[in-house]
Amino acid sequence: MHPLNPHIASTFAPPVMEARRWLQGVEFPPDRPLINVSQAAPVEPPPEGLRRAIAEAALERPEAHLYGPVLGNPDLREAVAAEFSSAYGGQVGPEQVAITQGCNQAFCAAISTLAGAGDEVILPTPWYFNHKMWLDMQGIAARPLPCGQDMLPDPVEAAKLINPRSRAIVLVTPNNPSGAEYPADLVAGFFELAQHHGLALILDETYRDFDSRTGAPHDLLARPDWDETVIQLYSFSKAYRLTGHRVGAMVASRARMAEIEKFLDTVAISTSQLGQIGACGGCATCAAGWPASATRSLRAAPRASRRFRHCRAGG
Ligand SMILES: Cc1ncc(COP(=O)(O)O)c(C=O)c1O
Repeated sequence: MHPLNPHIASTFAPPVMEARRWLQGVEFPPDRPLINVSQAAPVEPPPEGLRRAIAEAALERPEAHLYGPVLGNPDLREAVAAEFSSAYGGQVGPEQVAITQGCNQAFCAAISTLAGAGDEVILPTPWYFNHKMWLDMQGIAARPLPCGQDMLPDPVEAAKLINPRSRAIVLVTPNNPSGAEYPADLVAGFFELAQHHGLALILDETYRDFDSRTGAPHDLLARPDWDETVIQLYSFSKAYRLTGHRVGAMVASRARMAEIEKFLDTVAISTSQLGQIGACGGCATCAAGWPASATRSLRAAPRASRRFRHCRAGG
């Protein structure tokens, strides 16, 4: 099979697909059912209000079927900026927000603006597999940073991995796969380390709606010039149960957004309009009707559903 990109060939097969293949043809008797505890993905559709917002937009709004602005719809960018400013006690403007096709694409975009083949990125272990796969596929070396027994990475150990090829440190909090919630002072320690060495600190907060703590999980966005160091990522997949619509977000500097726009334009042109409408208007209109079952199973669903109220109804 030639030609073959050796970087893509060098990485592993998508683990979720591989695990599904293990199950093909295997039968599970009723007394020994298969229990899936492996994936932090919702299995039910979003609540009705959100589904209605998407359905009405599909029927009534012609622009819901067209390309949109590369960096995302203005109302959703504004909503994310307002929510992040308020939740983190900082100043985030809409022009510092990009809407992406899920948080995975936000990560790929962020890395692509930071590093190329031969560079290095520090990744605490155990890592989120798609982070490692993207770095492999770009020829970027993932420098593993082993976590301690408490599943927390240590900035002192991270400092030992920094060299002239280092470009970024990646933190996932709350973490996949460990579930650890990184304390604010630990995140601050990584920020200071990254800032000192001129590296980016990428924070993947896909699971922020499930954080058991109250208040802001860190103070980075409240610091002056935070955007010279921090690239923060979010996913609408989990609390909003929008996995199939592919909507995520990135918060970073205005200068980096110009680079991000190049990446997003080339790989996707724009994020799904219906997904963005669901994420924005759907959540605003369904806030009161979020099902009780969801609030039981998704610890922070009420927090999520209170967000983005000022998006216009239906988008
Ligand atoms: C840490 C982490 N980042 C990103 C993603 C992907 O999120 P999205 O569906 O928004 O691409 C996941 C999904 O499991 C995840 O665990």
